[in-house]
Amino acid sequence: MPANRFHLAWFGAGGFGVKSWGRTWSGAGGRDWTNPQLWIDLARALERACFDYVIIEDSSYVPDAYGGNAKAYLDSATATPKLDPTVLAPVMAHLTSHIGIVPTLSTTEYHPYMLARKINTMDHMSRGRTGWNIVTSSSHRAAQNYGRDEQIEHDLRYDMADEFFELACKLWDSWEVDAVVMDEEKGVWADYTKVHTLDFEGKFFRSRGPLNGNRSPQGRPVFTQAGGSPRGREFAAGTADSIISGTSGGVEGMKSFRDDVHARMTRLGRSTGDCKVLFMASPVVGETDAEAQEKRARQMAWAEAHPEQGSCTCPGTAASTSRSTRWTSRSPTPCGPTATSRCSPRRSA
Ligand SMILES: Cc1cc2nc3c(=O)[nH]c(=O)nc-3n(C[C@H](O)[C@H](O)[C@H](O)COP(=O)(O)O)c2cc1C
Repeated sequence: MPANRFHLAWFGAGGFGVKSWGRTWSGAGGRDWTNPQLWIDLARALERACFDYVIIEDSSYVPDAYGGNAKAYLDSATATPKLDPTVLAPVMAHLTSHIGIVPTLSTTEYHPYMLARKINTMDHMSRGRTGWNIVTSSSHRAAQNYGRDEQIEHDLRYDMADEFFELACKLWDSWEVDAVVMDEEKGVWADYTKVHTLDFEGKFFRSRGPLNGNRSPQGRPVFTQAGGSPRGREFAAGTADSIISGTSGGVEGMKSFRDDVHARMTRLGRSTGDCKVLFMASPVVGETDAEAQEKRARQMAWAEAHPEQGSCTCPGTAASTSRSTRWTSRSPTPCGPTATSRCSPRRSA
């Protein structure tokens, strides 16, 4: 095995939604996107191509920023519709064997108990191949769908995410590794002394615990994060196993982003090798460079003529080289039952 392995992830922009509609090669994309087979084929193709994981992006509102109403978005199926990625993830996992499946769940929209329970269930069902793309929601429209007038302030959202993460990890740890004994002679399925209440009382969340499901193969999911702001990077540096970044500035911009994250990790007491930083790329493929350039020019011209569609419909690839990873595309189980005790995000004082 080479010392410095190349890692690839697929960022499924647009989430569990319409991937292509009304374009030259869209085909039946506007109709068939709810057919699970489409997503199974996608996951299998990525697995064949030795991708480490696939992220299913998500948000929970119908946008209306452009033009003050939802017309542009609904006409073009841009950024909406989106169905629940946690329903899709187990289907993709069940019909693949080693790629990691990473749904997006928001710390602003879930309660830690519900999220911990859901992810624990998915990790059981995927035999230890579930990740969690940790996001804090930024849209006022999403906040309004959950009963608030507007979105919680940016840095406060991350303070809440810190506590959310801590509590979720404690819930995943509420069943000890050897709690399930299945001793038929004694009539004991699980040892109650190894299943613990938490009585967690935080600033933002409370939960009694324990989780009402036993520990999953990984114990906790693989954490991915995409914070771009200083506060977001601090959160990612303290929690993530893998960061996906859309930073600008070419190679220099990427190096500076990675150096910043590494410095934060070191300050927070983590080893820089514990988190892979992956950068977004949207390859344009042609038989020759000229053909690819021409195709790119066509794409740019189309984007300029359709500003309402932004870049939301482009799926992307994230890539990184690094020395190790918790998931490798060739291992049958990406991360075995190696629960760690890292339960709170590291924060600087
Ligand atoms: C590659 C990538 C993927 C992202 N995926 C999501 C997503 O699925 N849902 C979401 O609400 N935000 C998503 N975001 C937004 C980030 O979570 C984050 O809010 C954003 O990068 C801005 O960083 P900040 O919150 O630290 O300011 C994504 C960002 C990037 C760069």
